[in-house]
Amino acid sequence: QPLSVSEYLRQHIRTVPDWPAPGVQFRDITPLLQDPQVFRVLIDAFVHRYMGRGMRPDVVAGLDARGFILGSVVAYELGVGFVPIRKKGKLPFTTVQETYELEYGSATVELHTDAVRPGDRVLLIDDLIATGGTMMAGKKLLEKLGAQVTEGASIVDLPELGGSQRLKDSGLALFTLVDFA
Ligand code: PRP
Ligand code: ADE
Repeated sequence: QPLSVSEYLRQHIRTVPDWPAPGVQFRDITPLLQDPQVFRVLIDAFVHRYMGRGMRPDVVAGLDARGFILGSVVAYELGVGFVPIRKKGKLPFTTVQETYELEYGSATVELHTDAVRPGDRVLLIDDLIATGGTMMAGKKLLEKLGAQVTEGASIVDLPELGGSQRLKDSGLALFTLVDFA
């Protein structure tokens, strides 16, 4: 019985208990990137979907920082540009900003105002969806500039935290490869 892509990828995600805080099961994707064969399967899973008829975006936007690793490679393979959504204070040109709540405190992300054009169809990529706050903030930034987020994509979803459901309820289509309950 051959492994599904999802199971194959799951076997290469490392779970680190109690990191960065007690009670957190950290899903570490670095082993996926480290093995060239697994890395190719991972990237090809995204590329296969977004090369498909009517699925190719105009731009890929990646979320700081692990979304950069995936998003830039996927954009390159699709033959489209890549734009970074960064944590506050890193982008040098004029930006739009969005602040969102974390478990403790808040975070702000930014996007250059010329990163996308009104009407652009954007694929938004990160490595993992937990509460969904990061991806929701990214979507809002792109929409502030008049772009259309056609889909959000990540390797991992943690459905028990409710983030993917909240994102779907907001009207965002999602594509994720591995669930951890
Ligand atoms: C992690 C992860 C996502 C986000 C998911 O990033 O890479 O971006 O949290 O959580 P959420 O769905 O609850 O918003 P982190 O803030 O740890 O930053 P990093 O990528 O720089 O490590
Ligand atoms: N970001 C938020 N929660 C996470 C988790 N459990 N593992 C990895 N990254 C995360």
